[in-house]
Amino acid sequence: MKVLLVGSGGREHALAWALRRSPLCAELHAAPGNPGIAALGRCHPVLATDAEALLDLCLAQEIDLVVVGPEAPLVAGVADEIRARGIAVFGPSAAAARIEGSKAFAKEVMDAAGVANARTLPVARPPCVVKFDGLAAGKGVWVCRTQAELDEALHAIAPPFHVEELLEGPELSVFAVAFGDEALALPPARDYKRIGDGDTGPNTGGMGSFSPLPDVPDAAAAEIVDTVHRPVLRELARRGTPFHGLLYAGLMQTAAGIRVIEFNCRFGDPETQSLLPRLESDLLALLAGESGELIVSPRAAVTVVIAGDGYPARSDSGTPIEGIADAEATGALVFHAGTALHDGQLVTNGGRILNVVALGETAADARAAAYAAAERIDFAGMQFRRDIAHG
Ligand code: AMP
Ligand code: GLY
Repeated sequence: MKVLLVGSGGREHALAWALRRSPLCAELHAAPGNPGIAALGRCHPVLATDAEALLDLCLAQEIDLVVVGPEAPLVAGVADEIRARGIAVFGPSAAAARIEGSKAFAKEVMDAAGVANARTLPVARPPCVVKFDGLAAGKGVWVCRTQAELDEALHAIAPPFHVEELLEGPELSVFAVAFGDEALALPPARDYKRIGDGDTGPNTGGMGSFSPLPDVPDAAAAEIVDTVHRPVLRELARRGTPFHGLLYAGLMQTAAGIRVIEFNCRFGDPETQSLLPRLESDLLALLAGESGELIVSPRAAVTVVIAGDGYPARSDSGTPIEGIADAEATGALVFHAGTALHDGQLVTNGGRILNVVALGETAADARAAAYAAAERIDFAGMQFRRDIAHG
């Protein structure tokens, strides 16, 4: 199979790594890809949201399957345009991607499907959560425990927005590979959204992840998918907009049971970087709908995200990066998230720069290995959390 991977981050590098391992993968192309992905396949200078250019690329390269990484092209309808030309796509239609693109739509679907989620509040009063109703790259949510936090949120946010109940408890992410109402569960993973150790400081795109979880065993994923994902998949299919792609549920384990915080229409970043190295089945066969088998190693995986100077307030570019080969020599995987090549030198190019992933028999082993590898990477201003997978 000739595969085109759309996107350019750490999640896409992890997808490229896993797709490339498939004996079914004859050629791997990426649009636009990154310097890490370039070592695994051919990168083309085409934007992830440029449907017309992606279609031209598919036709020129005789692509059999397109795998879309990020949400923006999906919400914009890129999968529809490619499918309309008879090319298979792993990624939902724009209509189904609204499950991520519109919080109000997601709520309506969950309520119709009877899936437990945060109650909408008629008035904004603390404690509550204020959410922008649209794609906001993880930055459209204000958790307000006090009136001062609520005042700040209402000052910062522009309509349309939505106010809901503040849920308390540990968070987890559960992904299902979905084809209409058929769904296969991936093991639960946890990500770390705040920049600082102990979950302090501003929200980010995600500073690390791990799987399996000490508090929610892999075996629990199937039941979560039965009670959370499947009803939503059936509801989307019933509305004539079946979901084909990765349905991501962001969940909170509250005292009253599991509640949905959000759905995303694509693989999570950086959870995917911890999940795919645990996957023993053929990812390409799975995404192409040719295999109903999902075998996962019991080993633990830990991902440490290395961000650039000033992140998350700003991104960094042009700073030389050293030590990747040294880090890889420890046995760890290093996925590129925001890098570029300038005259043969690898440099920073973004907020989150690299993801270091290690496997181990236990979470403690994987964590020690991931940090030992991360310590070998060096660039000016680099920062990472020291507490990933500590609990
Ligand atoms: P989202 O963009 O919806 O993923 O929200 C980002 C983060 O805000 C989540 O990972 C949670 O930590 C937090 N959050 C969102 N909704 C709620 C809620 N109803 N109660 C508590 N925390 C929430
Ligand atoms: N890990 C959070 C996200 O992908 O949205």
